[in-house]
Amino acid sequence: YLAASAGAASPISASAQTQPGNTLTILYGSQTGNGRGIASQLAAQASAQGYAVNLSAMGDYNARSLKQEQLLVVIVSTQGEGEAPDDAIELHKFLASKRAPKLEQLHYAVLALGDSSYEFFCQTGKDFDERLAALGAQSLLARVDCDVDYQQAAEQWQQQLLDAVQPHLQSSAQVVAIDSAKQASAVTVFSKQQPYEAEILLSQKITGRDSIKDTRHIEIDLGESGIQYQPGDALGVYFSNYAALVEELLSSLQLDGETTVVIQQQEYNLRQALTEVKELTQLYPGLVQFWAEHSASEELQAIAADREQTRGFIKKHQLADLQRLYPITQVDAQHLIDVLRPITPRLYSIASSQSEVDTEVHLTVGLVAELRDGIPRYGAASGFLARAQEGQKLRVYVEANKHFRLPAAPETPVIMIGPGTGVAPFRAFMQERAAQGITADSWLFFGNPHFEQDFLYQTEWQQYLKNGQLSRLSLAFSRDQQQKIYVQQRIREQGEAVWQWLQRGAHLYLCGDAERMAKDVQQALLDVVVTHGGLAVEAATEYLENLRLQGRFQKDVY
Ligand code: 2AM
Repeated sequence: YLAASAGAASPISASAQTQPGNTLTILYGSQTGNGRGIASQLAAQASAQGYAVNLSAMGDYNARSLKQEQLLVVIVSTQGEGEAPDDAIELHKFLASKRAPKLEQLHYAVLALGDSSYEFFCQTGKDFDERLAALGAQSLLARVDCDVDYQQAAEQWQQQLLDAVQPHLQSSAQVVAIDSAKQASAVTVFSKQQPYEAEILLSQKITGRDSIKDTRHIEIDLGESGIQYQPGDALGVYFSNYAALVEELLSSLQLDGETTVVIQQQEYNLRQALTEVKELTQLYPGLVQFWAEHSASEELQAIAADREQTRGFIKKHQLADLQRLYPITQVDAQHLIDVLRPITPRLYSIASSQSEVDTEVHLTVGLVAELRDGIPRYGAASGFLARAQEGQKLRVYVEANKHFRLPAAPETPVIMIGPGTGVAPFRAFMQERAAQGITADSWLFFGNPHFEQDFLYQTEWQQYLKNGQLSRLSLAFSRDQQQKIYVQQRIREQGEAVWQWLQRGAHLYLCGDAERMAKDVQQALLDVVVTHGGLAVEAATEYLENLRLQGRFQKDVY
Protein backbone atom coordinates (compact mmCIF):
# COMPACT_ATOMS: atom_id res chain seq x y z
CA TYR A 1 0.00 0.00 0.00
CA LEU A 2 2.98 2.22 0.53
CA ALA A 3 4.21 1.68 -2.98
CA ALA A 4 0.79 2.65 -4.27
CA SER A 5 1.29 6.19 -2.97
CA ALA A 6 4.72 6.33 -4.60
CA GLY A 7 2.87 5.42 -7.75
CA ALA A 8 4.17 4.70 -11.24
CA ALA A 9 3.41 8.30 -12.21
CA SER A 10 5.84 9.76 -9.68
CA PRO A 11 9.14 8.00 -10.06
CA ILE A 12 11.57 8.11 -7.18
CA SER A 13 13.36 11.38 -7.63
CA ALA A 14 17.11 11.70 -7.46
CA SER A 15 16.90 15.28 -6.27
CA ALA A 16 14.87 14.31 -3.24
CA GLN A 17 17.56 11.85 -2.34
CA THR A 18 20.23 14.50 -2.35
CA GLN A 19 18.17 16.87 -0.24
CA PRO A 20 17.56 14.99 2.93
CA GLY A 21 16.37 18.25 4.45
CA ASN A 22 13.07 17.60 2.75
CA THR A 23 12.88 14.09 3.97
CA LEU A 24 11.29 12.50 6.99
CA THR A 25 13.43 9.52 7.91
CA ILE A 26 11.58 6.80 9.81
CA LEU A 27 13.71 4.10 11.41
CA TYR A 28 12.20 1.09 13.10
CA GLY A 29 13.69 -1.66 15.21
CA SER A 30 11.37 -4.39 16.32
CA GLN A 31 11.41 -8.10 16.88
CA THR A 32 7.79 -8.98 16.27
CA GLY A 33 6.82 -6.58 13.52
CA ASN A 34 4.70 -4.24 15.64
CA GLY A 35 7.25 -1.45 15.21
CA ARG A 36 7.46 -2.03 11.50
CA GLY A 37 3.66 -1.94 11.29
CA ILE A 38 3.47 1.46 12.99
CA ALA A 39 6.41 2.78 10.97
CA SER A 40 4.90 1.84 7.63
CA GLN A 41 1.53 3.24 8.65
CA LEU A 42 3.20 6.52 9.57
CA ALA A 43 5.19 6.50 6.32
CA ALA A 44 2.01 5.92 4.34
CA GLN A 45 0.26 8.82 6.08
CA ALA A 46 3.21 11.17 5.72
CA SER A 47 3.64 10.37 2.03
CA ALA A 48 -0.11 10.73 1.47
CA GLN A 49 0.32 14.26 2.84
CA GLY A 50 2.96 14.80 0.19
CA TYR A 51 6.11 14.50 2.30
CA ALA A 52 9.24 12.73 1.16
CA VAL A 53 9.72 9.72 3.37
CA ASN A 54 12.65 7.43 3.92
CA LEU A 55 11.45 4.32 5.71
CA SER A 56 14.06 1.83 6.83
CA ALA A 57 14.71 -0.99 9.26
CA MET A 58 17.49 0.11 11.62
CA GLY A 59 19.53 -2.88 10.55
CA ASP A 60 19.53 -1.61 6.96
CA TYR A 61 20.39 1.96 7.85
CA ASN A 62 23.87 3.41 7.60
CA ALA A 63 24.49 5.23 10.88
CA ARG A 64 26.87 7.63 9.16
CA SER A 65 23.93 9.18 7.30
CA LEU A 66 22.63 10.57 10.60
CA LYS A 67 24.79 13.66 10.17
CA GLN A 68 22.79 14.58 7.07
CA GLU A 69 19.35 13.97 8.51
CA GLN A 70 17.10 16.86 9.49
CA LEU A 71 14.02 14.98 10.66
CA LEU A 72 14.21 11.61 12.28
CA VAL A 73 11.57 9.35 13.75
CA VAL A 74 12.65 6.35 15.82
CA ILE A 75 10.19 3.55 16.54
CA VAL A 76 11.80 0.90 18.66
CA SER A 77 10.80 -1.93 20.96
CA THR A 78 12.59 -3.38 23.96
CA GLN A 79 13.48 -7.01 24.58
CA GLY A 80 13.18 -8.92 27.87
CA GLU A 81 15.70 -7.37 30.21
CA GLY A 82 15.93 -3.97 28.57
CA GLU A 83 17.91 -5.05 25.51
CA ALA A 84 17.55 -3.64 22.03
CA PRO A 85 15.91 -5.87 19.38
CA ASP A 86 18.41 -7.58 17.04
CA ASP A 87 17.83 -5.13 14.26
CA ALA A 88 18.52 -2.12 16.50
CA ILE A 89 21.64 -3.35 18.29
CA GLU A 90 24.15 -1.75 15.97
CA LEU A 91 22.59 1.70 15.79
CA HIS A 92 21.96 1.61 19.54
CA LYS A 93 25.65 0.85 20.16
CA PHE A 94 26.79 3.44 17.63
CA LEU A 95 24.84 6.24 19.31
CA ALA A 96 26.36 5.39 22.69
CA SER A 97 29.88 5.21 21.26
CA LYS A 98 32.54 7.87 20.89
CA ARG A 99 32.10 7.67 17.11
CA ALA A 100 28.64 9.21 17.34
CA PRO A 101 28.68 12.68 15.74
CA LYS A 102 27.10 15.86 17.05
CA LEU A 103 23.53 16.04 15.76
CA GLU A 104 22.63 19.67 16.31
CA GLN A 105 20.98 19.93 12.89
CA LEU A 106 18.50 17.19 13.79
CA HIS A 107 14.90 17.27 14.98
CA TYR A 108 13.68 13.92 16.24
CA ALA A 109 10.87 11.99 17.90
CA VAL A 110 10.83 8.59 19.57
CA LEU A 111 8.03 6.08 19.98
CA ALA A 112 9.00 3.32 22.41
CA LEU A 113 7.28 -0.06 22.50
CA GLY A 114 7.48 -2.35 25.48
CA ASP A 115 5.79 -4.45 28.09
CA SER A 116 5.20 -2.90 31.50
CA SER A 117 5.40 -6.25 33.22
CA TYR A 118 9.16 -6.01 32.71
CA GLU A 119 11.36 -3.87 34.89
CA PHE A 120 13.18 -2.14 32.05
CA PHE A 121 10.00 -0.99 30.37
CA CYS A 122 10.72 0.68 27.01
CA GLN A 123 14.40 1.00 27.93
CA THR A 124 15.69 0.96 24.35
CA GLY A 125 13.35 3.80 23.38
CA LYS A 126 14.48 5.74 26.44
CA ASP A 127 18.11 5.16 25.45
CA PHE A 128 17.56 6.46 21.92
CA ASP A 129 15.76 9.51 23.27
CA GLU A 130 18.53 10.29 25.75
CA ARG A 131 21.38 9.71 23.32
CA LEU A 132 19.87 11.83 20.56
CA ALA A 133 19.27 14.66 23.04
CA ALA A 134 22.80 14.31 24.42
CA LEU A 135 24.21 14.61 20.88
CA GLY A 136 22.43 17.93 20.51
CA ALA A 137 19.33 16.88 18.56
CA GLN A 138 16.08 18.69 19.36
CA SER A 139 12.98 16.87 20.35
CA LEU A 140 9.92 17.46 18.14
CA LEU A 141 7.55 16.04 20.70
CA ALA A 142 7.71 14.11 23.93
CA ARG A 143 8.57 10.44 23.68
CA VAL A 144 5.63 8.10 24.21
CA ASP A 145 6.15 4.73 25.91
CA CYS A 146 3.58 2.21 24.72
CA ASP A 147 2.55 -0.90 26.56
CA VAL A 148 1.47 -4.21 25.00
CA ASP A 149 -1.85 -2.69 23.90
CA TYR A 150 -0.04 0.01 22.00
CA GLN A 151 -2.47 0.73 19.20
CA GLN A 152 -4.38 3.69 20.55
CA ALA A 153 -1.36 5.42 22.07
CA ALA A 154 0.63 4.88 18.87
CA GLU A 155 -2.12 6.33 16.71
CA GLN A 156 -2.42 9.40 18.89
CA TRP A 157 1.33 9.91 18.80
CA GLN A 158 1.32 9.57 15.01
CA GLN A 159 -1.20 12.36 14.66
CA GLN A 160 0.76 14.62 16.99
CA LEU A 161 3.93 13.83 15.11
CA LEU A 162 2.46 14.71 11.75
CA ASP A 163 1.41 18.08 13.18
CA ALA A 164 4.83 18.62 14.73
CA VAL A 165 6.82 17.90 11.56
CA GLN A 166 4.63 20.03 9.33
CA PRO A 167 6.56 23.31 9.79
CA HIS A 168 9.81 21.47 8.98
CA LEU A 169 8.81 19.71 5.82
CA GLN A 170 8.11 20.72 2.27
CA SER A 171 5.52 18.78 0.45
CA SER A 172 7.15 17.06 -2.50
CA ALA A 173 4.92 14.08 -3.09
CA GLN A 174 7.76 11.63 -3.20
CA VAL A 175 8.60 8.51 -1.32
CA VAL A 176 12.36 8.33 -1.53
CA ALA A 177 12.74 4.77 -0.44
CA ILE A 178 10.18 2.22 0.41
CA ASP A 179 10.39 -0.73 2.67
CA SER A 180 11.46 -3.62 0.50
CA ALA A 181 9.16 -5.95 2.42
CA LYS A 182 6.10 -4.13 1.19
CA GLN A 183 4.89 -4.64 -2.31
CA ALA A 184 2.58 -2.65 -4.51
CA SER A 185 -0.85 -4.12 -4.65
CA ALA A 186 -4.24 -2.97 -5.79
CA VAL A 187 -6.09 -5.67 -3.88
CA THR A 188 -6.88 -5.62 -0.17
CA VAL A 189 -3.78 -5.97 1.92
CA PHE A 190 -4.60 -8.16 4.87
CA SER A 191 -2.82 -7.19 8.02
CA LYS A 192 -3.01 -7.28 11.78
CA GLN A 193 -5.55 -4.45 11.59
CA GLN A 194 -7.41 -6.13 8.78
CA PRO A 195 -7.05 -9.91 9.05
CA TYR A 196 -8.38 -12.40 6.52
CA GLU A 197 -11.13 -14.80 7.49
CA ALA A 198 -9.65 -18.16 6.51
CA GLU A 199 -10.96 -21.70 6.87
CA ILE A 200 -9.37 -24.61 8.68
CA LEU A 201 -8.94 -27.52 6.26
CA LEU A 202 -7.28 -30.00 8.57
CA SER A 203 -6.37 -30.25 12.22
CA GLN A 204 -4.48 -33.35 13.17
CA LYS A 205 -2.67 -34.43 16.29
CA ILE A 206 0.81 -35.48 15.19
CA THR A 207 2.16 -36.60 18.53
CA GLY A 208 1.32 -40.15 19.58
CA ARG A 209 -1.49 -41.26 21.86
CA ASP A 210 0.90 -41.75 24.78
CA SER A 211 2.88 -38.59 24.24
CA ILE A 212 3.30 -36.09 27.04
CA LYS A 213 2.84 -33.44 24.35
CA ASP A 214 -0.12 -32.51 22.22
CA THR A 215 1.21 -31.12 18.96
CA ARG A 216 -1.14 -30.33 16.08
CA HIS A 217 -0.56 -30.03 12.38
CA ILE A 218 -3.02 -27.48 11.07
CA GLU A 219 -3.77 -26.65 7.45
CA ILE A 220 -5.52 -23.40 6.63
CA ASP A 221 -7.06 -22.28 3.35
CA LEU A 222 -6.14 -18.76 2.24
CA GLY A 223 -8.69 -19.06 -0.56
CA GLU A 224 -8.97 -16.08 -2.87
CA SER A 225 -7.24 -13.73 -0.43
CA GLY A 226 -4.16 -13.37 -2.59
CA ILE A 227 -2.07 -13.60 0.59
CA GLN A 228 1.57 -14.39 -0.14
CA TYR A 229 4.19 -15.54 2.32
CA GLN A 230 7.82 -16.65 2.28
CA PRO A 231 9.42 -19.56 4.13
CA GLY A 232 10.49 -18.05 7.45
CA ASP A 233 7.41 -15.82 7.82
CA ALA A 234 4.92 -16.17 10.65
CA LEU A 235 1.14 -16.33 10.64
CA GLY A 236 -0.75 -14.06 13.03
CA VAL A 237 -3.78 -15.86 14.43
CA TYR A 238 -6.75 -14.30 16.21
CA PHE A 239 -8.70 -16.57 18.55
CA SER A 240 -11.73 -16.64 20.81
CA ASN A 241 -11.43 -17.58 24.43
CA TYR A 242 -12.51 -20.97 25.73
CA ALA A 243 -16.25 -20.94 26.50
CA ALA A 244 -15.75 -22.94 29.70
CA LEU A 245 -13.23 -20.37 30.90
CA VAL A 246 -15.61 -17.49 30.21
CA GLU A 247 -18.41 -19.27 32.10
CA GLU A 248 -16.10 -19.99 35.03
CA LEU A 249 -15.25 -16.30 35.27
CA LEU A 250 -18.84 -15.09 34.92
CA SER A 251 -20.06 -17.40 37.62
CA SER A 252 -17.21 -16.76 40.02
CA LEU A 253 -17.48 -12.99 39.58
CA GLN A 254 -21.28 -13.29 39.94
CA LEU A 255 -21.78 -11.36 36.74
CA ASP A 256 -24.53 -11.82 34.16
CA GLY A 257 -23.24 -12.65 30.69
CA GLU A 258 -26.13 -10.71 29.15
CA THR A 259 -25.10 -7.38 30.69
CA THR A 260 -24.34 -4.77 28.04
CA VAL A 261 -20.84 -3.31 28.02
CA VAL A 262 -19.17 -0.77 25.74
CA ILE A 263 -15.75 -1.12 24.14
CA GLN A 264 -14.56 1.74 21.95
CA GLN A 265 -18.11 3.01 21.42
CA GLN A 266 -19.38 -0.45 20.45
CA GLU A 267 -21.90 -2.39 22.45
CA TYR A 268 -21.37 -6.04 23.34
CA ASN A 269 -22.87 -8.34 25.86
CA LEU A 270 -20.41 -9.26 28.56
CA ARG A 271 -20.13 -12.90 27.53
CA GLN A 272 -19.31 -11.93 23.97
CA ALA A 273 -16.77 -9.32 25.08
CA LEU A 274 -14.98 -11.85 27.28
CA THR A 275 -15.02 -14.42 24.49
CA GLU A 276 -14.06 -12.35 21.46
CA VAL A 277 -12.48 -9.09 22.55
CA LYS A 278 -10.62 -9.34 25.84
CA GLU A 279 -7.43 -11.12 26.83
CA LEU A 280 -8.08 -13.65 29.59
CA THR A 281 -4.92 -15.72 29.77
CA GLN A 282 -2.13 -13.16 30.01
CA LEU A 283 -2.11 -11.13 33.18
CA TYR A 284 -0.37 -7.79 33.52
CA PRO A 285 0.71 -5.81 36.62
CA GLY A 286 -2.15 -3.32 36.45
CA LEU A 287 -4.65 -6.14 36.61
CA VAL A 288 -3.00 -7.72 39.65
CA GLN A 289 -3.08 -4.25 41.20
CA PHE A 290 -6.78 -3.90 40.41
CA TRP A 291 -7.54 -7.26 42.00
CA ALA A 292 -5.47 -6.36 45.04
CA GLU A 293 -7.48 -3.17 45.47
CA HIS A 294 -10.79 -5.01 45.20
CA SER A 295 -10.01 -8.06 47.29
CA ALA A 296 -9.42 -8.11 51.03
CA SER A 297 -6.39 -10.36 50.65
CA GLU A 298 -3.23 -9.09 52.30
CA GLU A 299 -1.32 -11.80 50.52
CA LEU A 300 -2.30 -10.41 47.13
CA GLN A 301 -1.64 -6.87 48.29
CA ALA A 302 1.88 -7.92 49.23
CA ILE A 303 2.37 -9.52 45.80
CA ALA A 304 1.03 -6.44 44.02
CA ALA A 305 3.32 -4.17 46.02
CA ASP A 306 6.43 -6.03 44.88
CA ARG A 307 7.58 -5.94 41.27
CA GLU A 308 9.45 -9.25 41.36
CA GLN A 309 6.60 -11.10 43.04
CA THR A 310 4.11 -9.63 40.59
CA ARG A 311 6.21 -10.86 37.69
CA GLY A 312 6.49 -14.32 39.17
CA PHE A 313 2.74 -14.45 39.74
CA ILE A 314 1.91 -13.26 36.23
CA LYS A 315 4.09 -15.95 34.68
CA LYS A 316 2.30 -18.75 36.46
CA HIS A 317 -1.34 -17.66 36.54
CA GLN A 318 -4.24 -16.69 34.38
CA LEU A 319 -7.10 -14.34 35.23
CA ALA A 320 -9.26 -17.27 36.32
CA ASP A 321 -6.54 -18.36 38.78
CA LEU A 322 -6.29 -14.85 40.14
CA GLN A 323 -10.02 -14.86 40.76
CA ARG A 324 -10.00 -18.36 42.22
CA LEU A 325 -7.17 -17.58 44.64
CA TYR A 326 -8.23 -14.04 45.56
CA PRO A 327 -11.90 -13.77 44.64
CA ILE A 328 -13.66 -10.46 44.22
CA THR A 329 -17.41 -10.13 43.72
CA GLN A 330 -18.35 -6.48 43.83
CA VAL A 331 -16.89 -5.58 40.48
CA ASP A 332 -19.02 -3.85 37.90
CA ALA A 333 -19.11 -5.43 34.43
CA GLN A 334 -18.04 -2.28 32.59
CA HIS A 335 -15.27 -1.65 35.10
CA LEU A 336 -13.94 -5.16 34.54
CA ILE A 337 -14.05 -4.74 30.78
CA ASP A 338 -12.21 -1.42 31.01
CA VAL A 339 -9.37 -2.92 32.99
CA LEU A 340 -8.91 -5.99 30.78
CA ARG A 341 -6.62 -5.66 27.76
CA PRO A 342 -7.71 -6.43 24.21
CA ILE A 343 -6.85 -9.78 22.67
CA THR A 344 -3.62 -9.66 20.70
CA PRO A 345 -3.15 -12.24 17.97
CA ARG A 346 -0.41 -14.87 18.44
CA LEU A 347 2.32 -15.51 15.90
CA TYR A 348 3.16 -19.00 14.64
CA SER A 349 6.15 -19.81 12.42
CA ILE A 350 4.73 -21.04 9.14
CA ALA A 351 5.43 -24.71 8.41
CA SER A 352 4.80 -24.71 4.65
CA SER A 353 5.99 -23.16 1.42
CA GLN A 354 3.62 -21.79 -1.20
CA SER A 355 5.73 -23.43 -3.89
CA GLU A 356 4.37 -26.66 -2.47
CA VAL A 357 0.99 -25.84 -0.93
CA ASP A 358 -0.12 -22.89 -3.08
CA THR A 359 -2.99 -21.09 -1.32
CA GLU A 360 -2.69 -23.05 1.91
CA VAL A 361 -0.70 -22.27 5.00
CA HIS A 362 0.37 -24.94 7.50
CA LEU A 363 1.19 -24.57 11.19
CA THR A 364 2.76 -26.80 13.82
CA VAL A 365 1.08 -25.91 17.09
CA GLY A 366 2.06 -27.13 20.53
CA LEU A 367 -0.92 -27.08 22.87
CA VAL A 368 -0.04 -25.17 26.01
CA ALA A 369 -1.79 -27.04 28.80
CA GLU A 370 -0.91 -26.89 32.45
CA LEU A 371 -2.48 -27.95 35.69
CA ARG A 372 -2.87 -25.14 38.20
CA ASP A 373 -3.78 -26.67 41.53
CA GLY A 374 -5.40 -29.53 39.68
CA ILE A 375 -7.34 -27.31 37.26
CA PRO A 376 -6.34 -27.54 33.59
CA ARG A 377 -5.45 -24.22 32.00
CA TYR A 378 -4.88 -23.88 28.28
CA GLY A 379 -2.99 -21.39 26.16
CA ALA A 380 -5.50 -19.02 24.57
CA ALA A 381 -4.51 -19.45 20.93
CA SER A 382 -3.11 -22.99 21.05
CA GLY A 383 -6.20 -24.12 22.95
CA PHE A 384 -8.42 -22.47 20.35
CA LEU A 385 -6.52 -24.15 17.52
CA ALA A 386 -6.53 -27.52 19.27
CA ARG A 387 -10.31 -27.33 19.72
CA ALA A 388 -10.94 -26.03 16.21
CA GLN A 389 -12.90 -28.22 13.84
CA GLU A 390 -12.25 -28.61 10.17
CA GLY A 391 -14.36 -26.08 8.31
CA GLN A 392 -14.15 -23.56 11.13
CA LYS A 393 -13.21 -19.98 10.32
CA LEU A 394 -10.38 -18.04 11.87
CA ARG A 395 -8.84 -14.63 11.27
CA VAL A 396 -5.23 -14.59 10.12
CA TYR A 397 -2.57 -12.39 8.52
CA VAL A 398 1.04 -12.85 7.49
CA GLU A 399 3.80 -11.29 9.54
CA ALA A 400 6.85 -11.14 7.30
CA ASN A 401 10.17 -12.03 8.91
CA LYS A 402 13.00 -11.02 6.66
CA HIS A 403 15.45 -12.04 9.38
CA PHE A 404 14.67 -15.70 8.81
CA ARG A 405 15.29 -16.41 5.17
CA LEU A 406 16.84 -19.16 3.10
CA PRO A 407 20.20 -18.12 1.60
CA ALA A 408 19.89 -16.07 -1.58
CA ALA A 409 22.43 -18.31 -3.31
CA PRO A 410 20.88 -21.75 -3.83
CA GLU A 411 24.16 -23.65 -3.53
CA THR A 412 24.66 -22.48 0.08
CA PRO A 413 24.53 -25.28 2.67
CA VAL A 414 22.05 -24.85 5.52
CA ILE A 415 22.18 -26.12 9.10
CA MET A 416 18.73 -26.07 10.73
CA ILE A 417 18.31 -26.53 14.47
CA GLY A 418 14.68 -26.92 15.50
CA PRO A 419 13.68 -29.10 18.44
CA GLY A 420 9.97 -29.44 19.28
CA THR A 421 7.66 -27.14 17.33
CA GLY A 422 10.82 -25.22 16.39
CA VAL A 423 10.97 -27.58 13.43
CA ALA A 424 8.06 -25.77 11.74
CA PRO A 425 9.96 -23.26 9.56
CA PHE A 426 12.35 -25.99 8.44
CA ARG A 427 9.48 -27.92 6.93
CA ALA A 428 8.82 -24.72 4.98
CA PHE A 429 12.50 -24.45 4.04
CA MET A 430 12.66 -28.05 2.83
CA GLN A 431 9.44 -27.73 0.82
CA GLU A 432 10.81 -24.60 -0.82
CA ARG A 433 14.22 -26.07 -1.67
CA ALA A 434 12.64 -29.29 -2.95
CA ALA A 435 10.16 -27.38 -5.14
CA GLN A 436 13.02 -25.39 -6.61
CA GLY A 437 15.06 -28.52 -7.20
CA ILE A 438 17.85 -27.29 -4.92
CA THR A 439 19.92 -30.20 -3.66
CA ALA A 440 22.61 -28.22 -1.86
CA ASP A 441 23.67 -29.64 1.51
CA SER A 442 21.12 -29.38 4.29
CA TRP A 443 21.31 -30.65 7.82
CA LEU A 444 18.46 -30.84 10.32
CA PHE A 445 18.84 -31.17 14.08
CA PHE A 446 15.58 -32.22 15.70
CA GLY A 447 14.71 -33.28 19.22
CA ASN A 448 11.65 -34.19 21.26
CA PRO A 449 10.88 -36.46 24.23
CA HIS A 450 10.27 -39.87 22.57
CA PHE A 451 11.05 -41.35 19.15
CA GLU A 452 7.83 -43.40 19.07
CA GLN A 453 5.52 -40.58 20.12
CA ASP A 454 7.07 -37.31 19.11
CA PHE A 455 8.99 -37.62 15.84
CA LEU A 456 7.17 -34.76 14.10
CA TYR A 457 6.87 -35.16 10.31
CA GLN A 458 9.02 -38.31 10.46
CA THR A 459 7.99 -39.70 7.07
CA GLU A 460 8.58 -36.37 5.34
CA TRP A 461 12.17 -36.10 6.62
CA GLN A 462 12.82 -39.69 5.65
CA GLN A 463 11.53 -39.04 2.17
CA TYR A 464 13.77 -35.98 1.82
CA LEU A 465 16.73 -38.05 3.04
CA LYS A 466 15.96 -40.78 0.56
CA ASN A 467 15.81 -38.52 -2.46
CA GLY A 468 18.86 -36.53 -1.41
CA GLN A 469 17.04 -33.31 -0.59
CA LEU A 470 18.13 -33.58 3.05
CA SER A 471 21.79 -34.55 3.55
CA ARG A 472 21.90 -35.16 7.29
CA LEU A 473 19.36 -35.67 10.05
CA SER A 474 20.55 -35.60 13.67
CA LEU A 475 18.02 -36.64 16.29
CA ALA A 476 17.92 -36.16 20.04
CA PHE A 477 15.10 -37.97 21.79
CA SER A 478 15.51 -36.69 25.28
CA ARG A 479 13.59 -39.29 27.26
CA ASP A 480 14.27 -42.55 25.43
CA GLN A 481 17.15 -43.27 27.81
CA GLN A 482 18.16 -42.59 31.39
CA GLN A 483 20.23 -39.52 30.61
CA LYS A 484 18.61 -36.62 28.81
CA ILE A 485 19.93 -36.10 25.30
CA TYR A 486 19.34 -32.73 23.67
CA VAL A 487 20.15 -31.33 20.23
CA GLN A 488 23.15 -29.45 21.63
CA GLN A 489 24.76 -32.75 22.53
CA ARG A 490 24.43 -33.86 18.89
CA ILE A 491 25.90 -30.54 17.78
CA ARG A 492 28.93 -31.08 20.02
CA GLU A 493 29.34 -34.73 18.98
CA GLN A 494 29.40 -33.69 15.34
CA GLY A 495 31.28 -30.49 16.00
CA GLU A 496 33.99 -31.20 13.44
CA ALA A 497 31.43 -31.55 10.64
CA VAL A 498 29.47 -28.51 11.84
CA TRP A 499 32.69 -26.48 11.74
CA GLN A 500 33.52 -27.77 8.25
CA TRP A 501 30.07 -26.79 7.03
CA LEU A 502 30.50 -23.30 8.48
CA GLN A 503 33.88 -23.02 6.77
CA ARG A 504 32.14 -23.89 3.53
CA GLY A 505 29.77 -20.96 4.03
CA ALA A 506 26.79 -22.75 5.59
CA HIS A 507 23.96 -20.64 7.00
CA LEU A 508 22.83 -21.51 10.52
CA TYR A 509 19.19 -21.37 11.61
CA LEU A 510 17.81 -21.79 15.10
CA CYS A 511 14.13 -21.99 15.98
CA GLY A 512 12.20 -22.87 19.13
CA ASP A 513 12.25 -22.26 22.85
CA ALA A 514 14.07 -19.06 23.79
CA GLU A 515 14.24 -19.47 27.51
CA ARG A 516 16.52 -22.48 27.79
CA MET A 517 17.07 -24.27 24.49
CA ALA A 518 18.34 -21.34 22.44
CA LYS A 519 20.88 -20.33 25.08
CA ASP A 520 22.19 -23.88 25.47
CA VAL A 521 22.45 -24.39 21.72
CA GLN A 522 24.33 -21.11 21.34
CA GLN A 523 26.76 -22.29 23.99
CA ALA A 524 27.24 -25.57 22.09
CA LEU A 525 27.90 -23.66 18.87
CA LEU A 526 30.45 -21.54 20.69
CA ASP A 527 32.15 -24.68 22.00
CA VAL A 528 32.28 -26.07 18.46
CA VAL A 529 34.00 -22.93 17.18
CA VAL A 530 36.46 -23.01 20.08
CA THR A 531 37.22 -26.72 19.84
CA HIS A 532 37.24 -27.25 16.10
CA GLY A 533 38.03 -23.74 14.90
CA GLY A 534 40.82 -23.38 17.42
CA LEU A 535 39.63 -19.93 18.49
CA ALA A 536 39.75 -18.44 21.98
CA VAL A 537 36.34 -17.91 23.59
CA GLU A 538 36.34 -14.20 22.82
CA ALA A 539 37.28 -14.71 19.18
CA ALA A 540 34.72 -17.50 18.87
CA THR A 541 32.03 -15.22 20.27
CA GLU A 542 33.01 -12.62 17.72
CA TYR A 543 32.95 -15.26 14.97
CA LEU A 544 29.34 -16.14 15.78
CA GLU A 545 28.43 -12.46 16.11
CA ASN A 546 29.92 -11.88 12.66
CA LEU A 547 27.88 -14.75 11.24
CA ARG A 548 24.82 -13.05 12.70
CA LEU A 549 25.73 -9.66 11.24
CA GLN A 550 26.26 -11.25 7.82
CA GLY A 551 22.82 -12.85 8.05
CA ARG A 552 24.43 -16.30 8.22
CA PHE A 553 23.11 -17.06 11.70
CA GLN A 554 19.39 -16.40 12.01
CA LYS A 555 17.11 -17.04 14.94
CA ASP A 556 13.37 -17.38 15.40
CA VAL A 557 12.99 -18.07 19.11
CA TYR A 558 10.01 -17.61 21.37
P1 2AM B 1 12.66 -32.69 27.78
O1 2AM B 1 11.29 -32.11 27.81
O2 2AM B 1 12.67 -34.18 27.83
O3 2AM B 1 13.56 -32.10 28.86
C1 2AM B 1 11.40 -30.31 22.61
O4 2AM B 1 10.65 -29.74 23.63
C2 2AM B 1 12.59 -31.03 23.16
O5 2AM B 1 13.49 -30.07 23.72
C3 2AM B 1 12.27 -32.03 24.26
O6 2AM B 1 12.92 -33.22 23.95
C4 2AM B 1 12.85 -31.38 25.49
O7 2AM B 1 13.34 -32.31 26.41
C5 2AM B 1 14.00 -30.65 24.88
N1 2AM B 1 14.63 -29.66 25.77
C6 2AM B 1 14.26 -29.27 27.01
N2 2AM B 1 15.13 -28.38 27.51
C7 2AM B 1 16.08 -28.21 26.57
C8 2AM B 1 17.26 -27.42 26.50
N3 2AM B 1 17.63 -26.61 27.51
N4 2AM B 1 17.99 -27.50 25.38
C9 2AM B 1 17.63 -28.31 24.36
N5 2AM B 1 16.55 -29.08 24.37
C10 2AM B 1 15.77 -29.03 25.46
